[in-house]
Amino acid sequence: MATQRSNKPIGSRLAARDGFTSGLGVLLATLGSAVGLGNIWKFPSLTGTNGGAAFIIVYLISTLLVGLPVMIAEHVMGRTARADAITTLRKLAPGKLWWLVGAAGVLASFLIMAFYTEVAGWVFAYIVKAVTGGILSTDPAVTGQAFADLIASPSQSLLWQWIVLAWVGLIIALGVSKGIERVTKRLMPILLGLLVIICIRSLTLPGAAEGLKFLFNPDFTKLTGPVVLAAMGLSFFKLSVGMGTMITYGSYFREDQNIPATAARVMLADLTVSILAGIAIFPAVFSYGFEPGAGPSLLFITIPSVFASMPLGQVFMIMFFILTAIAATGAMLSLLEVPVAFLNEKLRLPRVTATIVTVVLLALVGSTAALSSSTLASTKVLGKTFFDLFDFATSNVLLPVGGFFITLFVGWVWGKAQVMNALTNQGALKNERIVNLFIGVCKFVTPVLVFIVLLNGLGLF
Ligand code: TRP
Repeated sequence: MATQRSNKPIGSRLAARDGFTSGLGVLLATLGSAVGLGNIWKFPSLTGTNGGAAFIIVYLISTLLVGLPVMIAEHVMGRTARADAITTLRKLAPGKLWWLVGAAGVLASFLIMAFYTEVAGWVFAYIVKAVTGGILSTDPAVTGQAFADLIASPSQSLLWQWIVLAWVGLIIALGVSKGIERVTKRLMPILLGLLVIICIRSLTLPGAAEGLKFLFNPDFTKLTGPVVLAAMGLSFFKLSVGMGTMITYGSYFREDQNIPATAARVMLADLTVSILAGIAIFPAVFSYGFEPGAGPSLLFITIPSVFASMPLGQVFMIMFFILTAIAATGAMLSLLEVPVAFLNEKLRLPRVTATIVTVVLLALVGSTAALSSSTLASTKVLGKTFFDLFDFATSNVLLPVGGFFITLFVGWVWGKAQVMNALTNQGALKNERIVNLFIGVCKFVTPVLVFIVLLNGLGLF
């Protein structure tokens, strides 16, 4: 968008570039990126099956030592360079190969979007099904059949993915402040409101305590090596780090934004939403005696039956899928922004053209994931369907590799004085001790932990 806006600080490097206009806008857009499908079922079901509060403690530690440092690193790199993910690394390390980290990020955003838009498509389809009553059955066999029919239909799968792509493409085409910021500022409060309402409903059902026990009962014997590593991997995906999403968003931050404080708030708020999602789901699941299955079956088969069991269940079901659609939207906006910013700024395509090009490419790449349960169900690469392959290649390979190099860059290459200067806002903030701690963690802790996650993800550890 070539629109010039007047509410920018005069003389700021932002003047010629679109960006977030307020601290709250930054917070909600960034939180919108972090809160997503990962919160609604990944976190609650992993927590419930892997030791409850014990898992939450491990997740918290890995978020503090892995997710948060990478997020701060990405934000400060982006804000310093004021450019897309690839150009940021080119600017900060001219003539070096570090830009490849940004390039891997653009690739990762495509691969994540390819399968994420499909799951989001099912969520959108479920809003319609909840309204029309198509999934209003207390029998999981019926809701299970409805889900099987949806994913086995090539035309339905593609159609819903395209609807999702058109929806997020439209918002992205509007720009950073008029699109991403405006939409997340309106939608995130709605998400939180709906979540709280459903939590109250769930907690006031008879037998709700069983669900809370499932979610929180600390069982330290469940904390095996793979569980600890899964918690670490989740802290990456949850905070949207390791692929330049946060570099790109950081490039739209204001000069006076307190980056460490913003990242810490986003992390805490994201954790709160994850725990609230667990509280919204499990007490109700247990109250009506359903099995707390994990992943897609929990979201698309069990949950509709749970809602169908309760009084006014249809209303709560519609609310639940709308809140999930909002969560997925904020996450997809941040994913889509990465290639769009690159095409727009580096290749100088107008923003609308950049968005159209990206969305069309995504529809092509994504169709292989969309058709993974139908036409392409038997087409396997490395023993996986395209859907699973993209999920695996990003979560287990590209994100950890990205996070590894990003913290190495900030810890060892960029220069301590530069990092200190950038994170204290040129000395305006009195947070030197936190910045020193951050640099130490980037040097010695995060890369080591990430390296272990990576080897594990590849099955080498
Ligand atoms: N954090 C989002 C979720 O929990 C997903 C997501 C958005 C993401 N942007 C990302 C994951 C960038 C990794 C990298 O659903």
